[in-house]
Amino acid sequence: MTAPVAPLTERRAWKALTAHHRTIRDLHLRKLFADDPARGERMTVEAAGLYLDYSKHRVTADTLTLLLQLAEESCLRERIDALFRGEKINLTENRAVLHVALRAPRGATLVVGGENVVPQVHDVLDKMTNCADRIRNGTWKGHTGKRIRNIVNIGIGGSDLGPVMAYEALKHYSDRALTFRFVSNIDGTDFAEAVRDLDPAETLFIVSSKTFTTMETMTNAQSARAWSLAGLGGAAASVARHFVAVSTNAAEVAKFGIDPANMFGFWDWVGGRYSMESAIGLSTMLAIGPEQFRAMLAGFHQMDEHFRTAPFGRNLPVLMGLLAVWNNNFLGAQTVAVLPYEQYLKRFPAYLQQLTMESNGKRVTRDGVEVTYQTGPIYWGEPGTNGQHSFYQLIHQGTRLIPSDFIAFHESLNPLGRHHDLLLANVFAQTEALAFGKTAEEVRREGTPDWLVPHRVFEGNRPSNTILAECLTPETLGRLVALYEHAVFTQGVIWDIDSFDQWGVELGKVLAQRIVPELESEAEPTLTHDSSTNNLIRRCRRHKQSS
Ligand code: F6P
Repeated sequence: MTAPVAPLTERRAWKALTAHHRTIRDLHLRKLFADDPARGERMTVEAAGLYLDYSKHRVTADTLTLLLQLAEESCLRERIDALFRGEKINLTENRAVLHVALRAPRGATLVVGGENVVPQVHDVLDKMTNCADRIRNGTWKGHTGKRIRNIVNIGIGGSDLGPVMAYEALKHYSDRALTFRFVSNIDGTDFAEAVRDLDPAETLFIVSSKTFTTMETMTNAQSARAWSLAGLGGAAASVARHFVAVSTNAAEVAKFGIDPANMFGFWDWVGGRYSMESAIGLSTMLAIGPEQFRAMLAGFHQMDEHFRTAPFGRNLPVLMGLLAVWNNNFLGAQTVAVLPYEQYLKRFPAYLQQLTMESNGKRVTRDGVEVTYQTGPIYWGEPGTNGQHSFYQLIHQGTRLIPSDFIAFHESLNPLGRHHDLLLANVFAQTEALAFGKTAEEVRREGTPDWLVPHRVFEGNRPSNTILAECLTPETLGRLVALYEHAVFTQGVIWDIDSFDQWGVELGKVLAQRIVPELESEAEPTLTHDSSTNNLIRRCRRHKQSS
């Protein structure tokens, strides 16, 4: 186990940062750049194919020194080592957290409970490869002898967001002869729309659920089985050819009727939101092929190794995590905007929402003591340049401070005339405008009448990261996801919270299970909720009875 650390607000570096913040809080990025012309070249770091420019943060060299001290005092090094050693750092669930094992190369060693898990990981990858090859080359036939042309992934949370994001992100590399759909919502519309134009004889469902008990997924899976059987003449034997499962729960998979040979396993040391490169990524592998999937894993691993070994001052995830703590706890930022200037990354902000907020949306420390500081911020975003014509107004001129991550690539996967230069020009223009703004004097010099000047002033001093990579490839996507995973871990270590449990989703699940029979029962139920909930349930019952 790692050494105990002092409560966050009692750590020396935290106190020093608090005092330091008072001395620099009014410092403007205009001055920081004017005083140090090399800042934009110096405050950058490049590793595993990603270039991070963090110069447009409201920090000085002293801020960074103190943040790095905070990392040391928070035992970040020991916690990273504990993660990679397979220790049970998910304390409230008494589990190891070893998503890094999912991307370890064959031959590596990562031990959980005395066992090297890397060979198991590669056994599953090999089984996935075999399945992917058979579907992609048409030797896997459906019940009627037709080849599979449609893949529908059924899952929710980590069993959906990663697969959807990766499919969209890597569409350029996907087999366009296959159609991919993703069903997550328990709202029947999601399923109905996903299958409405599909032929059951050509459709394979991947039921993805770590627990195989999640209400949304199991309900959708039952509807899928009914739809598939109805379209295939009701032959129960057809299930084996049209359903595969990804789960840790072999017993429930068998109960559902899926052939154990068509089950792809993973392990309780893989958290749902850290599972896109496990068998949960089967749809990704089907789309881009086993070779590209392994390239993605290699990208993850490169960032893992960088995180594990690089000194903190040159460590991308550590720096990003520490700067996020600075913005959150000292500058008072409540949200982070993630702004990929790459259309293929359109689902990346949604993916990051689970990774960041399910991980760090916690209000007690690992010891169960209520925190006296803010923990995880709200993550949100949209691909550029669309956001520029919508919410950027608030980022530029609103009253809230919104640190933003700009993500861009040197090369476009679809070079088209001037598009890419214009896209990149917008990235750089936005970070420049956010940092430096436009003073009243500058506005006046343009001949703006006095009454209009305040409206046209840009205060500036809005922090941002710029993350640049050469091109969006499977390998780059792996690096990018791992960068955020480890930055989230870094923040959780500083805040002394368990970034790997998610008890906050439980209460709503339990209450829903109680309300279902109250909505469905023939006899009028005795309702014992609050008056609002009782009234809403009664209203729905009345509507159902009258229709
Ligand atoms: O929302 C809670 C959660 O447990 C997530 O962490 C997980 O990704 C999701 O539900 C889906 O769970 P499962 O894969 O077990 O269906």
